Amino acid sequence: MRTVRATAAETADWPPLETLLRRKTGWRVKRETLTKLAGPIQLLMTRKGLPDRAALVRHLEQDPDALQEIVDALTVNETYFFREPAQIDLFSRVLVPEMLDRKSATEPVRILSAGCATGEEPYSLAIALAERYGVSQARDRFRLIGVDIDRMALDKARKGVYGRGAFRRLDAALLERYFEPADQGRRAIRPEIRRLVAFKQCNLLETPYPDDLAAMDVVFYRNVSIYFEPEARRRIFRNLSEILVPDGRLVVSATETLSHNFHLLSLMEVDGVFLYGKKTAGPATRGGSGPPPRAPGPFAAAPVLKPEQTGNPVPAAPPAAAETPKSVNARRREARDLAAAKSYGAALAALDGLMAEAPDYLPARTLKAALLLNRGPAHRDAARQLCESVLAQDSWCIEALLILGIAARAGDDPETAAKWFKSVVYHQTDNWLAHFYLAGIFKAKGQTEAARREYAIVVRLMEKGRFPDHGLPFFHLAFSQEEIIHLCRENLRRELR
Ligand SMILES: C[S@@+](CC[C@H](N)C(=O)[O-])C[C@H]1O[C@@H](n2cnc3c(N)ncnc32)[C@H](O)[C@@H]1O
Repeated sequence: MRTVRATAAETADWPPLETLLRRKTGWRVKRETLTKLAGPIQLLMTRKGLPDRAALVRHLEQDPDALQEIVDALTVNETYFFREPAQIDLFSRVLVPEMLDRKSATEPVRILSAGCATGEEPYSLAIALAERYGVSQARDRFRLIGVDIDRMALDKARKGVYGRGAFRRLDAALLERYFEPADQGRRAIRPEIRRLVAFKQCNLLETPYPDDLAAMDVVFYRNVSIYFEPEARRRIFRNLSEILVPDGRLVVSATETLSHNFHLLSLMEVDGVFLYGKKTAGPATRGGSGPPPRAPGPFAAAPVLKPEQTGNPVPAAPPAAAETPKSVNARRREARDLAAAKSYGAALAALDGLMAEAPDYLPARTLKAALLLNRGPAHRDAARQLCESVLAQDSWCIEALLILGIAARAGDDPETAAKWFKSVVYHQTDNWLAHFYLAGIFKAKGQTEAARREYAIVVRLMEKGRFPDHGLPFFHLAFSQEEIIHLCRENLRRELR
């Protein structure tokens, strides 16, 4: 056999090969990356007796197996179990229960891991489902499929045997529960979990997709698009949008979210996690027999409040009647720190003590109201009553007005919410958070002009650097300034045209 030489430098400087790979895979292939191909190319040319590089490119065009060898050599399969755990938690806690609600008892929820590499992502989803529903229910109620372009990665996924790096973020209890010892210190996924996932080779750029990828309820498509040319990225996102059922959800990695806002799907935020959703089919397409379209509920794009995690300084509070300002402030700060550490019971008890001793110290009441609101619907009324009691003493308390608006909004009462947010902007015209909420309420009611006006105000305020002035001093927002601006601009540019 005649050996054909293809040096790293020659491989890297080879536009026809770059073009071919880009066309077939959508990848933006960098020259440095192509140097990785010198070995595989040399082997292939020798094996097939190809005399030169032009013959090789012709051969790759015609022989999918040969092309596959080159593709396998180029993929980057970096992955691990429970990568971006907040997304996996949201999947099992919120997305899946919603999907199950829409299905009959015999209809499985269909889940795709697109670009699954060596299987850690779909197996993580399978483990999350097994944790929530038990293995036997998971087997009956879900269909999980992982696809990738890389055959070798898929072979490894099917075997399900992993070294230490794959478990770098996995909880020790889950490791114990779902893996068994294998050779060379590795661990094998337990067969009952392995059987929950099917694997298939698929190039996400090429349509039509195989039939078993139709009608997906949830698609995970994370850390794949980074390698694509912008046009390929858009095409693949479109392909994946098309296989989603109405109301289906598509999850991309947090770092990729904004680069996928192609307006093919709606960008949404749930519990601080961004994802994409396919618009609900109206009653007509549901044949009139399905459940009525649901209110946006927690999917409405809006900032989410989270307890402050850092020890940010507490803003000056008004003097208290019964104690010096310093001591009440310090005690309120302690309560806030307890809440940040998720000791909500202790935080509330500390605030109750403070309120009993300094009944006129209103910041203790607004903090308690905010904590109660954050604890869920059962505490909403108590939060509301506290804020109303604050307003009885200080009708200008922005924090109380905002909390009342947010509580009404969370209780699906947009009229009342709008009333409270309007009083905020009446008292404090540059409160962007109230303008932002008002924009969302107007948009939901179809009042396009009013919504546009409010979004434009938010953008203006952001440009003036008013982001930190949202009026809720003890909480930070799950959205960054950049994301708020992005959402507002998108609404102005497209959604409200
Ligand atoms: C970095 S891994 C991501 C794995 C996993 N989704 C995660 O987030 O941990 C990217 C995977 O995308 C796959 N991939 C790249 N281009 C693809 C294409 N056109 N079709 C299908 N898979 C592709 C690669 O083979 C690789 O396994």
